Amino acid sequence: MSIVKDMSLAPSGLQKIQWVRDFMPALSGIEERFRREKPFSGLTIAVSVHLEAKTANLGLVLREGGADVHLTGCNPLSTQDDVAAAMAQLGVDTYGIHGVDMQGYEDLLVETLKCKPHLIVDDGGDLISLLGGRCVQYGERLMGGCEETTTGIHRLRARERARILPCPMMAVNDAKAKHYYDNKYGTGQSSWDAIMHTTNLMVAGKTVVVAGYGWCGKGIAMRAKGMGADVIVTEVDPFKALEATMENFRVMPMDEAAKVGDIFVTATGCKNVIVERHFQVMKDNAILCNSGHFDCEVDVAALAAMSEERFSRRANIEGFRLKDGRVLNVLAEGRLVNLAAGNGHPAEIMDMSFAVQALSLEWMAQHWDSLEKRVYEVPEEIDDQIGRVKLAAMGLSIDELTPEQKAYLAGWEA
Ligand SMILES: NC(=O)c1ccc[n+]([C@@H]2O[C@H](COP(=O)([O-])OP(=O)(O)OC[C@H]3O[C@@H](n4cnc5c(N)ncnc54)[C@H](O)[C@@H]3O)[C@@H](O)[C@H]2O)c1
Repeated sequence: MSIVKDMSLAPSGLQKIQWVRDFMPALSGIEERFRREKPFSGLTIAVSVHLEAKTANLGLVLREGGADVHLTGCNPLSTQDDVAAAMAQLGVDTYGIHGVDMQGYEDLLVETLKCKPHLIVDDGGDLISLLGGRCVQYGERLMGGCEETTTGIHRLRARERARILPCPMMAVNDAKAKHYYDNKYGTGQSSWDAIMHTTNLMVAGKTVVVAGYGWCGKGIAMRAKGMGADVIVTEVDPFKALEATMENFRVMPMDEAAKVGDIFVTATGCKNVIVERHFQVMKDNAILCNSGHFDCEVDVAALAAMSEERFSRRANIEGFRLKDGRVLNVLAEGRLVNLAAGNGHPAEIMDMSFAVQALSLEWMAQHWDSLEKRVYEVPEEIDDQIGRVKLAAMGLSIDELTPEQKAYLAGWEA
């Protein structure tokens, strides 16, 4: 039994799902094979990923592969009620309501896990966290799973070190076909898409501060520069900082950047990146947002505590009026802006990320009984296959190594 906000929203959700399906050719190819081969026959899969149209498509593909799919979100603000209703109408058990509080969000995850999944797809590690704690009783059939994002993999590796991982997990984020494209180009485009339509302001001519020059930060900084912003990068890793400098970005500590930025975007996967002492020196009407997985990068609670007034300015923008009269603007409560105030990554990007998910889950279903409760890398063949399928879908081809070239690269004699 699904739990969604309003079934009458289903037609709009169905349209969104149909739209993205037309732009996800790699996943469509996998779906065709899954339909014939049914690799998940008899298996139940719980999926906790941002509950929007591309994720819905992944759910449908897994169902074509014979799975009993149970779908939920991974962030209360990224769930789209129309898509959730559409999936429920299509007969996929779906548990998602936009904007529920944290207790309501966790309750929906728990409802999802009652299916006692054989396989899970996690995005940020919330299912694993429940299966290792409050929901341990629903893990009796657990074979393994896949993790979508950098932050989730940090948590998995910490659990692996502490020997409390409930099942083998695949680090989908670490596949080339995932983070090279999704984290960089996906977050780069979708963060700006969300910031621009939410604020309806110019990017050109603004000073943009990007915190973290990892995969996501690189994409966000690159696109800001492309739109004419003056971009400052803050980092804690000297080599990432050097890399940003080589790309002609200014690099400085947040204490300095806070004084000059017009728009701040965090993408570190860390906590308390922008805190009270930074708010103290920011310009009037500075805009703050986050593209990292959790809403702990901008200390919104501290900002609220030091503000005289907290007020709604526009959809997904809250103003915080400080005692000296300055107003600081926070987008989407400091939750990942591209999903909480936007539509997430473009379909073509999620085509690759979810192709990795689908093939990694298939691999896990085939190999789980020979695996330990550890974090596994996505096999290179899967990565390679997706890269080639995607190129072909884009009408591109590349050169092949000749046997002579392969021997040259593999040997020392020449
Ligand atoms: N918004 C999205 O759609 C989306 C997509 C993919 C990943 N993510 C999330 O974005 C975050 C970043 O992912 P990534 O793949 O870029 O990770 P990454 O590890 O490649 O990059 C993170 C960078 O932040 C830097 N950093 C860490 N703490 C810092 C601090 N206090 N100040 C400044 N810099 C700091 C690190 O040195 C590193 O270079 C994660 O939470 C990840 O889960 C979001």
